[in-house]
Amino acid sequence: MKVLIIGSGGREHALAWQCSLFEEVEHVFVAPGNAGTDLEKKISNIQIDSENIPDLISFAKSEFIDITIVGPEAPLVMGVVDDFQDEGLVIFGPSKLASQLEGSKAFSKDFMHRNNIPTAFYEVFTESNLAIKYVKEMGTPIVIKADGLAAGKGVIIANTLSEAILAINDMLEGNRFGEAGSRVVIEEFLTGEEASFIVMVDGSNILPMATSQDHKSRDNGDKGPNTGGMGAYSPAPIVTPLVFDGVMEKIIKPTVEAMKAEGIPYTGFLYAGLMIDKKGITKVLEYNCRLGDPETQPIMMRLKSNLARLCISATQGDLDTVKGEWDERPSLGVVMAAKGYPESYKKGEIINLSLEEAGSKIFHAGTKLDAGNITSNGGRVLCATALGLDIKEAQEKAYQLVNSVSWDGSYFRTDIGFKGI
Ligand code: AMP
Ligand code: GLY
Repeated sequence: MKVLIIGSGGREHALAWQCSLFEEVEHVFVAPGNAGTDLEKKISNIQIDSENIPDLISFAKSEFIDITIVGPEAPLVMGVVDDFQDEGLVIFGPSKLASQLEGSKAFSKDFMHRNNIPTAFYEVFTESNLAIKYVKEMGTPIVIKADGLAAGKGVIIANTLSEAILAINDMLEGNRFGEAGSRVVIEEFLTGEEASFIVMVDGSNILPMATSQDHKSRDNGDKGPNTGGMGAYSPAPIVTPLVFDGVMEKIIKPTVEAMKAEGIPYTGFLYAGLMIDKKGITKVLEYNCRLGDPETQPIMMRLKSNLARLCISATQGDLDTVKGEWDERPSLGVVMAAKGYPESYKKGEIINLSLEEAGSKIFHAGTKLDAGNITSNGGRVLCATALGLDIKEAQEKAYQLVNSVSWDGSYFRTDIGFKGI
C-alpha cells in the first residue's frame, strides 16, 4: 500500500514514521515534509505545498496512492477532502463543511450550544461597542477568541477590562487577524486541567486514540506566552476511566451524532480540547478537526496497529470492525524550539543528532536538509520522544535524548510531564 501524508511538522513525521513500520506499507510520501521525513527509510518528501490541492491530487493519481492522511487544519478547511473525493481518491479527514468545527469558533460554539454539549457560556460579536459592553457586564478574567483560523494566536485571556478592550479592538477594528477576526467569540474563563481527547470517526463509528496532554505555555511551570505546544505525554492521568466514559457519552458521541443529524457527517480525526475541573466536570474548550501537535508524537509511539489500515477502514465506514492496539507504556515528547520562539528566532542553524535507541525517537518539525546538514527551519524544530515504564521514566529518557542533540540555538522546557508525575 502507498500512503501520502500532507504536512511538514512533527505530527506528520510521526504519522509517516508509524505507517512506514508496517510491511504492508510499500512507501510513504510526505508533502512537503522536513529533514526528518527525508532521512527515513521507505519515506520520501515531495515538493508540493500542503495547500496546493490541485498538485496534491495529480500526485496522488500518478502514484496510485491508496490512502492520503491530512495533518494540518488549513488544507482541511480549504476542502482538500471534498476535492480528493470528487476525483475518486481515498483520503481520511473531515469535509470542508465538517472542518468548520475548527475553522469557525462561532460555528462550533453555536453547534455545542444547540446540542447541549458542555462548553463555556459565550456570545458572538461583530461590533466592538457591543462586545465591550458585554465584557463590562461579565467582568474579567474573560476569554476573547477570533472566529477563524489564526495559527494558534487568536485566543486572548484578558485579566483586566483594558486587556479585553485592546483584544476586541485589535480583532474587530484593527483587523489583526484579517477575515478570521471579523467576528469574535467572547466566553467565560474556565479553570481546571486541560487534556486532549482525540478520536477517529468514520461518520458514525468512533475509535478513540490514547489520551494525551500537552503544555501550551512556552516556559517552565506553564508560564510565558502561549505556543503551539512545548511537549506532550500519553496517557493523560487526569482522564480517569470515569472521566473517559463521561467524555465519550456527553461530548464525543453527541458531537458525532449531531453532525450526522445536521447533514454534515464527520469523518476524520476529531480532537476535543477539554477543561476538567476538580470535580471531574468536563467542558469543551475547542474542537480541532485534526490530530494535535505535539500530542501525535507520543501517541504514535504507543500505537501498535497500522495507522494507514485504520484510516482506510474509517474511509469505508468500518471503524466498528477494527481495534486500536496500544503499547501499555506511557510516552512523553519534549519540543526543542529555536530560541525566541514564538516571537522572532533564527533559522538555518546546523543541528547534529546522535543515533536513537529502541523506544526513543526524535521527530522533526521545522528542519530541512542543506548541503547534507540538518538545519533549523522553523520555531518548533524537534520533538524528542520516548517510552518508559511510567511517565517519569519516559520523561528521563526523553530528556536524555534532548541532551544528545547538539544545537546551540535550542530552547526547551525542563519540566514536560510534571502534572502527570
Ligand atoms: P483554543 O484555541 O480555543 O483551545 O484556546 C487555546 C488555549 O487557550 C486553550 O488551550 C486554553 O489554554 C486557553 N483557553 C481557551 N478557552 C478558554 C476558556 N474559556 N477558559 C480558560 N482558558 C481557555
Ligand atoms: N497541541 C495543540 C494543538 O495541536 O492544537
